[in-house]
Amino acid sequence: MKVITFAAVKGGVGKTTMCFNLAEWLIANNKKVLIIDSDHQGSLTHLYRAAESKDNLYDLFNYGRAKIKQVKKNLSIIPSSPNLDKLEASLAVKSNQNFLMMMWLQDHIDQVKDYDYILIDCHPDFMTVTKNMIAISHYVISLLEPSEFGFMNLATFESRMDLFKKEAIDVRTRESYIDAKTIYIPNKIKHNTSSSRELLQSLKKDKSGMVDLSLVIPQREVFNQSTLTSKSVFDILKDKRDIKSQQLREQLIKIFENIVKKVSE
Ligand SMILES: Nc1ncnc2c1ncn2[C@@H]1O[C@H](COP(=O)(O)OP(=O)(O)O)[C@@H](O)[C@H]1O
Ligand SMILES: [Mg+2]
Repeated sequence: MKVITFAAVKGGVGKTTMCFNLAEWLIANNKKVLIIDSDHQGSLTHLYRAAESKDNLYDLFNYGRAKIKQVKKNLSIIPSSPNLDKLEASLAVKSNQNFLMMMWLQDHIDQVKDYDYILIDCHPDFMTVTKNMIAISHYVISLLEPSEFGFMNLATFESRMDLFKKEAIDVRTRESYIDAKTIYIPNKIKHNTSSSRELLQSLKKDKSGMVDLSLVIPQREVFNQSTLTSKSVFDILKDKRDIKSQQLREQLIKIFENIVKKVSE
């Protein structure tokens, strides 16, 4: 089982869109997927018509109770709650505030162990609920947009991850509880704009090896359609007959295969 969290300090970079399309790509390839909707805006909860007033993620944090709701073959979701953001204050007084999700997972491993992937969609922040999700992750995917902000996001996110790892050490062993690796994926890349070129140029100069340029996702209208119609980009493009759509489909399949390879290591 691999746990992958989509997180970024910035909104609108494509977390929800990529979480949805990765989930759909994985189930199309016979994998079993659990989505945890950790954004109080609940985009994925609504997309899968999975809203629950009880035993949603809010109740998981408060009472350790959660319903894993199957929405289609091989795909289940722990729904979000619009109250999720109110947890911040109540969690602040708990000493284990960043590790409630980790404890829940340990206590309910029988219910989740058969999933090949757990994909988590976060609200754009680095607060307690998001930290809980990062704490249970093998990989954190952080998307970067081709704006000035996009590149700054890498530095900001990286320093927050570092700090979180340092804060979360086991006092006895001095090892961090957090072993998530961060993968930065440039998204919404247009070929002929200076901001896209600048982002790619600066990422190429990045010596940390954290950005893999085989994972660059282009800006394409089909991503907008996918969340609006609850259909993956692969299914939308498959139904189109023209060569351009088929070429785009092939291109996106390669990128998603690379992402899956990367997070399965
Ligand atoms: N590669 C892309 N090409 C075109 N539009 C995209 C792409 N990725 C995301 N979008 C669009 O950008 C908007 C924000 O995406 P969303 O996934 O909601 O971001 P986030 O979850 O990070 O706030 C949505 O309208 C989505 O359809
Ligand atoms: Mg979102």
